[in-house]
Amino acid sequence: MNYDNFLASKIAIAEKHGLGDLDLKAFDSSLKPPNLKPPSGTSNAYADQPVSKEKADYSLARWQVDAAALWKSDGARLYEPEELAEMLPPDIIDVWRNEQLAAGYDYERHVEIGHALERRKKLPKTFLLLAPKTTQHDGDLVWDDIAYIRTLNADQARRNIEQHICPLPLDIVERALRLYSMADDLVLDPFGGLHTVPYAAIKMGRRAYGIELHEPYWNNGVRYCQMAEIEALTPTLFDLVAA
Ligand SMILES: C[S@@+](CC[C@H](N)C(=O)[O-])C[C@H]1O[C@@H](n2cnc3c(N)ncnc32)[C@H](O)[C@@H]1O
Repeated sequence: MNYDNFLASKIAIAEKHGLGDLDLKAFDSSLKPPNLKPPSGTSNAYADQPVSKEKADYSLARWQVDAAALWKSDGARLYEPEELAEMLPPDIIDVWRNEQLAAGYDYERHVEIGHALERRKKLPKTFLLLAPKTTQHDGDLVWDDIAYIRTLNADQARRNIEQHICPLPLDIVERALRLYSMADDLVLDPFGGLHTVPYAAIKMGRRAYGIELHEPYWNNGVRYCQMAEIEALTPTLFDLVAA
């Protein structure tokens, strides 16, 4: 079978499968290396003009791998920004964090993933979905595992009342309280907002003062502190078992 017949048979197969619109001729010639002729016969599997390589360009080690009967691919590749943008936010956070640890950080890619999310109207305005991950392993120096979405604004939104413009994430507050205060200590936040700091402090067995200028925030803050008091005083199942 010569090359034209071979191509004609491929076109016939493509048409049979409803792919008649494909320009197989153009497709084929784009794949055909310019200096190689297709095999003129089918008596063996070799091209008329075999592929040859110079030893200087083609190492023994590579040849051994290429010549093996089994060719493997680890399939590992980074997600395309568009693929990432299709995922749910918790998965995006996971994939993005792991990618930075495994493959390193790429500023342009970081922005491009944000663009892909923005095009789908999925880039949140109220918290940082694509947080940079540090490669510094001392967690005390850079806290990069903060869930920016965990704030008292979640409760404000649930109750359909005024959200704070910049509430502190509970992850930061709780960690700072654990590091820098002890049980029964008195914690002061002179710019309390929704009183995230007093709220978390009371829940963690500290006492707290909060000061706030904006009356609605102040009222909400008092309520959060009362909730925290109730939670701190309510015995858990473990307390009851230990008693
Ligand atoms: C950055 S916000 C604090 C947010 C707070 N950490 C939270 O999680 O909700 C600062 C707050 O300080 C309040 N503030 C600004 N000046 C103040 C002042 N002189 N006295 C009391 N509160 C003030 C603002 O109204 C604002 O709510």
